[in-house]
Amino acid sequence: MTVAVEIDGLVKDFRPGLGLRAKRVLHGVTFDVEAGEIFGFVGPNGAGKTTTLKVLMGLIRPTGGRASVLGCDVREHDFRRQVGFLPEAPYFYDYLSGAEFLHFYAKVCGVPAASREARIVELLGWVGLEHAGGARLRTYSKGMLQRIGIAQALVHDPQVVFLDEPMSGIDPIGRKEIRDLILRLKSEGKTVFMNTHILSDVEMLCDRVAVIVKGRIRFEGRPHEFSTGGEAESDVVLASAPAALVESLEHFASDGLRGHGDHIEIRVPSKRVDALLQEALTAGAQVISVHPHRTSLESIFLSAVEEEEA
Ligand SMILES: Nc1ncnc2c1ncn2[C@@H]1O[C@H](COP(=O)(O)OP(=O)(O)OP(=O)(O)O)[C@@H](O)[C@H]1O
Ligand SMILES: [Mg+2]
Repeated sequence: MTVAVEIDGLVKDFRPGLGLRAKRVLHGVTFDVEAGEIFGFVGPNGAGKTTTLKVLMGLIRPTGGRASVLGCDVREHDFRRQVGFLPEAPYFYDYLSGAEFLHFYAKVCGVPAASREARIVELLGWVGLEHAGGARLRTYSKGMLQRIGIAQALVHDPQVVFLDEPMSGIDPIGRKEIRDLILRLKSEGKTVFMNTHILSDVEMLCDRVAVIVKGRIRFEGRPHEFSTGGEAESDVVLASAPAALVESLEHFASDGLRGHGDHIEIRVPSKRVDALLQEALTAGAQVISVHPHRTSLESIFLSAVEEEEA
């Protein structure tokens, strides 16, 4: 597997002012992003996501550690042509139209003049702004600005795309479109690195994630690999359970029974599922479903933040 982004022991101190004590915001951050994957960099506000991205873009210098993109140290600038970047608070020239803005970036990023027009029409279509290319950015909504920012990041067809909160300010339909666009980039073999705190998008989209809390990586892996370290549990749904059975089910349940009409839902330790089903069937109940209970990224995220605060 080729590594697209390599971050090793990154430390960043910010000095609030002359003579004031430096504040450490990255405490030895280490992780890799493989070529061709969609990587989610997840963490609460102020965790250090944007700071890490700025180091990767060569916009700020790390206090310690090193980082490389496509095998190039980020202090050299050779890799820039291969990289697209959507900043957190993109500054737009709001007197330009969307298309003019993309033309400007296409020129800056070295897209040959002959192919610029076609590329910009294509990109406007991809981000759903085909009818807004002629309007000034001043008249764009927040969601439209975010979309034109993403188009800007893709203008020179980069190999690696860094997106700082690509879904920020975008409604659910727009988010679905942006997700589809990101999947399209992956299908073209691009690497996508995105900062986000929208966990549902991460679960739907990302091949791997790293969770950062207060400048330290707390988890790294595939979204479905996370577990709180507790015992695996399953959710069992039964119907038509006789009253006597309901009583004996209580001692199986890890946190009580939930009833919905004729249905009863019970969360049980997975290793007790067999015994429970046997008892339920013998008593004449109907088994509707058995599902392993997945620890969501959200509960992992919350417990990491709580642990850090304790
Ligand atoms: N130029 C700076 N000078 C001083 N402190 C800074 C500077 N930039 C960032 N910080 C601090 O570094 C910490 C990490 O900020 P960063 O912007 O990287 O967080 P983030 O994870 O991107 O958060 P968010 O989800 O809110 O965008 C914060 O405490 C922030 O106040
Ligand atoms: Mg940020």
